Amino acid sequence: MTDEQFKAKTVLVTGAARGIGRAAVVEFARRGAQVVAADLDGDALAVLGREHPDAKTVVADVAQEADVQAMVAAAVDRFGSLDVLIANAGIIPMAPLLETSTADWEQVMAIDGRGMFLSCRYAAEQMVPAGSGAIVCVSSISGMAGQSGQSAYGAAKFVATGLVKHLAVELAPAGIRVNGVAPGTIRTDRVVALETEPGGPEYLADIVRKHPLGRLGEPSEVAAAMAFLASDESSFVTGAVLAVDGGYLAQ
Ligand SMILES: NC(=O)c1ccc[n+]([C@@H]2O[C@H](COP(=O)([O-])OP(=O)(O)OC[C@H]3O[C@@H](n4cnc5c(N)ncnc54)[C@H](O)[C@@H]3O)[C@@H](O)[C@H]2O)c1
Repeated sequence: MTDEQFKAKTVLVTGAARGIGRAAVVEFARRGAQVVAADLDGDALAVLGREHPDAKTVVADVAQEADVQAMVAAAVDRFGSLDVLIANAGIIPMAPLLETSTADWEQVMAIDGRGMFLSCRYAAEQMVPAGSGAIVCVSSISGMAGQSGQSAYGAAKFVATGLVKHLAVELAPAGIRVNGVAPGTIRTDRVVALETEPGGPEYLADIVRKHPLGRLGEPSEVAAAMAFLASDESSFVTGAVLAVDGGYLAQ
């Protein structure tokens, strides 16, 4: 069902080719938005583009400033404005601290950290003169609380949570709301692949037990929360990080 309020809105989704980002593209397209789908993986993006021919696809690495500038420019060139940013692109490396190298830290900080900053920075550059906009940063339960094996990834997700708080305050006078989602463990390809990996089924059974609702989340459930935070229904909500985690953080 389309949603009148999104009809003339341009929504830019990063990390759009797979998983949660892909679900966001499907959700905003279903609501009738003008969707710009950006991803590093051109092949996966081409598949998405064939399924959603109305969406504008852009190959972009969010860790690269020139790519982010070009991604935002492509959205504005195609649709004339940028109303919503879904800053979702990220990698999810997990390893014990003593097996985490400086290179591991630099890589996840470049993508999940700097990439999140750059996406917000250049989206806001378009939104500030317009006097309106909504940004949704994808954090994680790992960006809200401590977990084992996530010294680099978890710290990078705290960047998303931090940007939500600081940008919500800074950009409020410009009419821009900045919120986040903190997904629990979501049934994306990476998580499904664990079922056939050594130790994977045990890890999955344990992680499911840690979510009080007793199951993994679906990408579409995160996308629905993103749509709420990007919509007029959340017009007095800014600086919030909404847990979409089956109760994980409530414990
Ligand atoms: N899956 C989960 O359980 C879970 C839980 C909490 C938070 N998250 C967060 O949700 C977001 C999406 O995760 P997902 O599970 O859908 O991952 P995914 O691996 O299924 O999809 C991520 C997409 O981002 C793209 N990408 C990777 N690096 C990029 C870069 N530098 N520039 C542009 N695109 C890039 C990939 O090509 C891929 O299409 C991430 O920020 C992740 O931290 C995921």
